[in-house]
Amino acid sequence: MAHDGMSGLDDVIAAETRLSAVDGQRGELIIAGARLEDLAGKAPFEAVAARLFKGLFDTDLPPDAFARRLGAARVDAYRALATAARGVAAMPPMDALRALVARLADGDDLDTALSLLAAPAVMTPALVRLRRDLPPIAPRADLGHAADMARMLTGSDRADAAAALDVYLVTVSDHGLNASTFAARVVASTWAGLGSSAIAGLSALKGPLHGGAPGPVIEMLDGIGAPERAAAWIEAALDHGDRLMGFGHRIYKVRDPRADALKAAVQRLAAARSAPDGDAAGRLALAEAVERAALDILRRRKPDRPLDVNVEFYTALLLEALGFPPEAFTAVFAAGRMAGWLAHAREQRLTGRLIRPQSRYVGPRAAAAA
Ligand code: ACO
Repeated sequence: MAHDGMSGLDDVIAAETRLSAVDGQRGELIIAGARLEDLAGKAPFEAVAARLFKGLFDTDLPPDAFARRLGAARVDAYRALATAARGVAAMPPMDALRALVARLADGDDLDTALSLLAAPAVMTPALVRLRRDLPPIAPRADLGHAADMARMLTGSDRADAAAALDVYLVTVSDHGLNASTFAARVVASTWAGLGSSAIAGLSALKGPLHGGAPGPVIEMLDGIGAPERAAAWIEAALDHGDRLMGFGHRIYKVRDPRADALKAAVQRLAAARSAPDGDAAGRLALAEAVERAALDILRRRKPDRPLDVNVEFYTALLLEALGFPPEAFTAVFAAGRMAGWLAHAREQRLTGRLIRPQSRYVGPRAAAAA
């Protein structure tokens, strides 16, 4: 079905922001004043979060102090939520995470923000372990944020896993006025607290058209199974009217630059790993074959639509290689994007006004009273 741009607010500018810029024609992403290529793998997640938070709270912490406070916030969040996590672990991870985040304070200050930033990083590994009948692992305040999150999942402190997760969290930390960030800003525009904005962000991220896509990418790779089956599988899926998860984007008309940052991180991880970790290199070769076939077929079938690979395709491979199950991929995404949601919520509160668009009524008119 063809849509006019209005139904998806395509070209509407609904906020002014200093936080990130997405250039969909050039495939360029700027986060807090720096190009993604100059951040991913070069600055740790906590330094990028500190850049995003700069000027938005009463205190601006230098990166070292920010990292220490975030480490302490991880320990506090674990203490506050570990018991409750056992009670919600039977729920799908995103639903459990939403329930847990709802237990945190709904203030507007830096302590509230750090606690909300820490919560998904601490609780996602705990929920995954509980669902595997393993005891959760408590955080360590002295570790880097990504290193601690990776360790809380597996119990091991491999530097290659920490580095790959760090690239991931930085890469997804902010991305203009995407659906979940818009949801967070709408809530902040009512002067509700940061916790309420975070829950709005989590709820919007969950859907398969936004942050819920990478789980289905794994289903697609598993369904295809071998590179030579890619084209036939994709043709059949499109004949059936399905969308290919991990392809297409509202803003990018060229390749999503985040896909390249993540693909490079997957390649580094695959190179660092050998046989006992599973066939990471084989999985990468399958993904590359699927990407090539999908781009060929989409170009042929939809020549007037620029559909390219998006962030979710290589997200799936990276998070799988790190040991996260597909059902938890969106919760890991939330651990990164929480930085953006909180910064946007504060920015909206400080510089914006109530967001209140209008709708056009197309229903029946009430009959005039007799
Ligand atoms: N596979 C097949 N066809 C597609 C795909 C796809 N992945 N993406 C878009 N199309 C087609 C649509 O069917 C539609 O065709 P039609 O006009 O012939 O019906 C056309 O391209 C445009 O689709 P829209 O839905 O209008 O495009 P929109 O900008 O709203 O969609 C979206 C963007 C939702 C990301 C879409 O590309 C999609 O569904 N992709 C798959 C899900 C996905 O990977 N989501 C993650 C996005 S990244 C993120 O949010 C973090």
